[in-house]
Amino acid sequence: MKRSKIAGIGKYLPENVVTNNDLLKYMETNDEWIQERTGIKERRYAHRTEETTTTMAVEASIIAIERAGITPQDIDFIVFATLSPDYYFPGCGVLLQRALKMKEIGALDVRNQCSGFLYALSVADQFIRSGMYKNILVVGSEKHSFGLDFSTRGRNVSVIFGDGAGAVVLQPTEDSNKGILSTHLHSDGESAEILANYNPGTHANHWKEEKYADFDDAEIGQMFFSHSMIDKGQIYPYMDGPAVFKKAVVKFPEVILEALHAHNFQTSDLDMLIPHQANLRISQFVQQKLGLKDNQVYNNIQRYGNTTAASVPIALCEAWENGLVKEGDLICLAAFGSGFTWASALLKW
Ligand code: UT7
Repeated sequence: MKRSKIAGIGKYLPENVVTNNDLLKYMETNDEWIQERTGIKERRYAHRTEETTTTMAVEASIIAIERAGITPQDIDFIVFATLSPDYYFPGCGVLLQRALKMKEIGALDVRNQCSGFLYALSVADQFIRSGMYKNILVVGSEKHSFGLDFSTRGRNVSVIFGDGAGAVVLQPTEDSNKGILSTHLHSDGESAEILANYNPGTHANHWKEEKYADFDDAEIGQMFFSHSMIDKGQIYPYMDGPAVFKKAVVKFPEVILEALHAHNFQTSDLDMLIPHQANLRISQFVQQKLGLKDNQVYNNIQRYGNTTAASVPIALCEAWENGLVKEGDLICLAAFGSGFTWASALLKW
C-alpha cells in the first residue's frame, strides 16, 4: 500500500531571544508566574521589518527541501498553515511559491490554528496516497509578535506566544514499515469564541454592541475595522485560558489513543509523542494520563513559547536533529487549539 513519508524536515527560529523578564518593559507580569503556569522561559520574536511569516517559512522550507534531496522546482504542491499570514489575503502559500521560484503549482492555505500543521499534513497525505502529487511541501509558520497586546490587558495571551517556522517534504513510499500510518481530525465549534481573534471579520458583533442601528452603505463598508475596535483592544486574540486548558487535557489524550488504537498499538509502543507546545502543564498532564515516560514526550516550549501552527514541525525537527527520533520509531504528533480543532498523526520514521 502506498503511504506518504517525511523525506525532509527543517525549522527556522528568529535570532531575537525574548526572556520573561524582557516582557516586564511592557506589562505587569513576572518570570515566576509565566514559568509556573506555562513552563516558558523565553521565546523568539521575528525581526520587525525584515522577517515575515513567509520569510521564516522560506528558511525552514529550504532546509526541508535540501534534506529531501530535491530542489524547489521538484515540489508539486504546497500546503501552508498559519494564523498570522503576511496579508489578510492572499494567503502565504502563493508568497512561498513566489519566493522559492517554484513552478506554477497549487498552493493551499490552512487556517486551523494550533492544529493547522496536522490538518495540512493530513491533506498532503491524502494527495500522496491518491497518487496525485509526489513532493508536497507542508509548512507551519507564525509571526505572532506582530499581533499581540503588549499591555497588561493582554498579558494572559501575549506571554505565551512566540515566532518560528517548520516545514516537511512529503513523498510516497511503498515501504510498509515507514511513513504516515493515519491522521485523525476533529472539531467542535461550540466554543469557537473562547479562543479567537474576532477582528477584522464579518461578524458585526462590535457594531451591534455600539448600537449602530441605521447605518448606510458607506458605514457598512467600514464595518470590517474601526477606530474603536483598536482603542478597545478588540483587534487582539482573546482567550479564556482555563476553559481551553480543561478541554485540551481531555482531547489530547483522546486523539492520541485514537491514533494508537487504530493500529492496535499501546502507549508503551510509542517511541516519541510530539505534542503541540501550548503549555508545559498540559503536556505533563497528558504524559501522566497516558502513563508515558519522560523520554517518550518531547517538549521545547521552555525555549520557544507557543508557535501555534509551527510548533509541531519545529519540535519534530529539533527532536530528530538531536537524535531522539530515529529510523523505525513510532511517533505520534498531536495538537489541540482554537476552534476547537484537534488532531493527531501516527507515523513510522
Ligand atoms: O495553543 C492554543 C491553546 N491554548 C492553550 O492551550 C492555553 C490553555 N490555557 C493555559 O495555558 C492557561 O489557562 C494560561 C497559561 C493561559 C493561564 O493560566 P491560569 O493558571 O489558567 O491562569 P488564569 O487565567 O486563571 O489567571 C490567574 C491569575 C489572574 O489573576 P487573578 O484574577 O487571580 O487576580 C490573572 O489576571 O493570573 C493573572 N495573570 C497573570 N499574572 C501575571 C494572567 N496572565 C498573567 C501574566 N502575568 N502574564
